[in-house]
Amino acid sequence: MELAIIGAGWVGVTTAAAMADIGHTVVCADLNAERIEKLNLGEVPFFEPGLFELLQKSLASGRLKFTTSNEEAIKAGELVFCCVNTPTLPDGSTDLNAVTQVARAFAQDHRDGAVFVIKSTVPAGTAAAMRRVMTEISQRPFTIASNPEFLAESTAIRDTMIPSRIVIGADESDTLEKVKRVYEPIIANGARVFISDCATAEVVKTASNSFLATRISLINEIANYANQVGADPVGVALGMSLDPRIGAVRPGVGYGGGCFPKDVQALIGEGDRTGTPLTVLKAAHAANYRQRTRLYDRLSAALGGVAGKKVTIFGLAFKPKTDDVRDAPAITLIDQLLKDGAQVVAYDPQVRPTLVNDHHGLVMASSALEAAQDADAVALMCEWQEFIDLDLKTLQHVMKGRILVDGRYIWSRKTVESLGFIYVV
Ligand code: UGA
Repeated sequence: MELAIIGAGWVGVTTAAAMADIGHTVVCADLNAERIEKLNLGEVPFFEPGLFELLQKSLASGRLKFTTSNEEAIKAGELVFCCVNTPTLPDGSTDLNAVTQVARAFAQDHRDGAVFVIKSTVPAGTAAAMRRVMTEISQRPFTIASNPEFLAESTAIRDTMIPSRIVIGADESDTLEKVKRVYEPIIANGARVFISDCATAEVVKTASNSFLATRISLINEIANYANQVGADPVGVALGMSLDPRIGAVRPGVGYGGGCFPKDVQALIGEGDRTGTPLTVLKAAHAANYRQRTRLYDRLSAALGGVAGKKVTIFGLAFKPKTDDVRDAPAITLIDQLLKDGAQVVAYDPQVRPTLVNDHHGLVMASSALEAAQDADAVALMCEWQEFIDLDLKTLQHVMKGRILVDGRYIWSRKTVESLGFIYVV
């Protein structure tokens, strides 16, 4: 099939490369010329395991191309996937400007009977609103579908090729069938398909992220409590996870990234706007950010104040196997430490210094041990395998102090304390 993908971010690029790989002809557009130039040369503008190889393969097949022209892509698509970003505004509402612009462009240039597929994460009612916008402009027949994505960074390709489910919302059965046909090879491999109207599909997306985020906040507070009463927080989470209704969830300093914080905030805003306040979600979101403050306070107490102390941060990304630092707990901690007069040195296996150079005063090291040299405290904020594998005796040797902050519960209290560290969680 001939597909257009508008927006070359994490979702757009992964979807474009994957769809070309399963046999479709794909034109992916983004207004960022530098990004498009790189993509056409086979360079991925962010770190995502396996995407470089998939992109190379799809470009070599001749079925994938990137362009700066939305018009060119839209004219090339039987289905046009809208993958532009939808930031949350300060008042909690979703900024739909980019989606609206793509909808207008679609309405001007789409083929007869083309389908406008919204993959961007949007509040309920967006498909209906875009339909109204497009109907005013378009001279030809078109339809609209909601097809939210569920890919997580670091596992984006697997999540696209072997998804937990494919959710398709549409009002007409032939539109549903067209979208389903795009995913045929993936469905043939066993992917489950959930079909609904557009509003339901839209809510499935934000509610799924909100549910997952809430579980994290709950386990984090349970972990705080477990610590307090001398239980093992990771053991508690593991023991609970054996009930399939609960499942696996890892405690730590809380969620970050470009999705959970934004989607939770957006759903809270939608709840308030529609007179259906989501009180549990509000509490979970507040607990998420309290978790960051709590860790800072505990580190500060262990150090007897942070001013003049050298604190090393292990891991800047919001989770391992990505270089994404959006709303990362490490960044919150660093900003607070710098503000309160600490000397901060960080190391992350993937995050390049240019991604954090607006945090003035932060020094980036090129290895974990270099970063920890003469440190009064080391704070692990992202559980990269490299840190899990680190020899703690060597670490202790290069540090000046003995404080080890474990923001992701990767170490056992018993082990680190037996080595003489002060364990802070
Ligand atoms: C999330 C969802 O998992 C995807 O299904 C969704 O498609 C995506 O958002 C999106 O909306 O685009 P992502 O933000 O990439 O994906 O990352 P997750 O792996 O879900 O992690 C989110 C945060 O929760 C991270 O900061 C992670 O460290 C934290 N987390 C996750 C925990 O603290 N404990 C856990 O058990 C799991």
